[in-house]
Amino acid sequence: MMNIKDFKLFRDKNYIDGKWVTADSGDTISVNNPANLKEIGTVPKCGTSETKKAIEAANKAWPDWKAKSARQRSDILRKWFDLIMNNKEELAQIMTIEQGKPINESRGEIGYGASFIEWFSEEAKRVYGDTIPDPMTDRRIVVLKQPVGVVASITPWNFPNAMITRKCAPALAVGCPVVIKPASQTPFSALALAALAEEAGFPKGTLNVITGKASEIGDELATNPIVRKLSFTGSTEIGKILLQKCSGTVKKVSMELGGHAPFIVFNDANINDAVAGAMQSKFRNTGQTCVCANRIYVQEKVHEEFCKKFIEEVSKMKVGDGLNEENSSGPMIDEHSLTKVEEHVEDAIQYGAKVAIGGSRHSLGMNFYQPTILTGVSSEAKITTEETFGPVAPIYKFKDENEVIELANNSPYGLASYFYSRDIGRIWRVAEALEYGMVGVNTGLTSKAEAPFGGIKESGLGREGSKYGVDDFLEIKYINMCGLDK
Ligand code: SIN
Repeated sequence: MMNIKDFKLFRDKNYIDGKWVTADSGDTISVNNPANLKEIGTVPKCGTSETKKAIEAANKAWPDWKAKSARQRSDILRKWFDLIMNNKEELAQIMTIEQGKPINESRGEIGYGASFIEWFSEEAKRVYGDTIPDPMTDRRIVVLKQPVGVVASITPWNFPNAMITRKCAPALAVGCPVVIKPASQTPFSALALAALAEEAGFPKGTLNVITGKASEIGDELATNPIVRKLSFTGSTEIGKILLQKCSGTVKKVSMELGGHAPFIVFNDANINDAVAGAMQSKFRNTGQTCVCANRIYVQEKVHEEFCKKFIEEVSKMKVGDGLNEENSSGPMIDEHSLTKVEEHVEDAIQYGAKVAIGGSRHSLGMNFYQPTILTGVSSEAKITTEETFGPVAPIYKFKDENEVIELANNSPYGLASYFYSRDIGRIWRVAEALEYGMVGVNTGLTSKAEAPFGGIKESGLGREGSKYGVDDFLEIKYINMCGLDK
């Protein structure tokens, strides 16, 4: 097996103010491969003082970065995109070694992550303002959009590349410098991205990556008055804490938080398509995405057929180290995540659920769990309301459309939802009735650079990707031009 340290994009220092640096103390934290629990390297254990330095470096870089033309910023972003695509295989290998996902999914994520850079390199040129007729004849109202300032990005381990590019590409495109705090489990993907950003020619200080003590770095990013915008992807629990901390300096915030996606299969659905969609939505990244199907509602008439075909597909899944091309399901990120999955399954069984397949840790041991289907799951079970973040598919039977809409919406979350139907009237009714930021109709995957990703209710604030993705990094300035006919 390739050693991560042999890769040319392997960096074990932080990237601050255009330099590769260690923590002031020289301390490091260890990073382990979740597939075999072995240490793959270390990264600096930075804290408050290094975070302040990164924020100050970003602030120093801001005037020149925002003064560049949109075309100049776009060209650098485009170069970053090209470099990422040229190094796709190496980036994918680094990702699988530190995150565990099957290598083909890592390759997919590198392309997905890069697509945000490509998209926003183009959007950089389309930050339009407005002119508005003033009620007085000698006046005009002009609306400008200007970069908000230093942006802090706190990103998760489940998508170690794409969650960084989805936040940083729009920020950089419109003229904001960024300070990135990647998850402690997956820093090498972030540092590899920084190495390519350096090669692409971002001026020093415009893009900084800091690793280390999550609470100290997070606190500084959320409270330092220089930071004007904080963009976070992670749990609703941590999102709420960050929101409180950001309130002290009234920062702009984007929050991509937890989800609890309903996945509905109506009697009139194409069942083979629905099974393929459920496989994709549920088992992508070993069930560790915030848009994974969490409650699979199947209408009475097709319940048996759907379950039979779904079980058949799951039985074909191969679990193991993601570096092996044959494996379609990797390890969970850590023991803590595994324990939560185990608890959810045991609790559902206590409430009467039947294990149709899987249902326990995998014989490989360590962080591996068997892809699992539960049928006859009770609405009382924890799995019905709490995010599992693992490869477990709970199935519920339902009678009619109104009932399932009520069940689907009965959640504090509102991120992704999915349903399968061939009835055009129903498709419109249900799509409009679901209280979710994203609705997949006859698909189990809606994420793409062209579309607005984001949730409502406790799933978050703001949108990433699409033409709307730049809005959260811009301030609106209104200029009243007067005395024009004198
Ligand atoms: C996430 O799980 O945080 C993001 C998933 C996606 O972009 O599809």
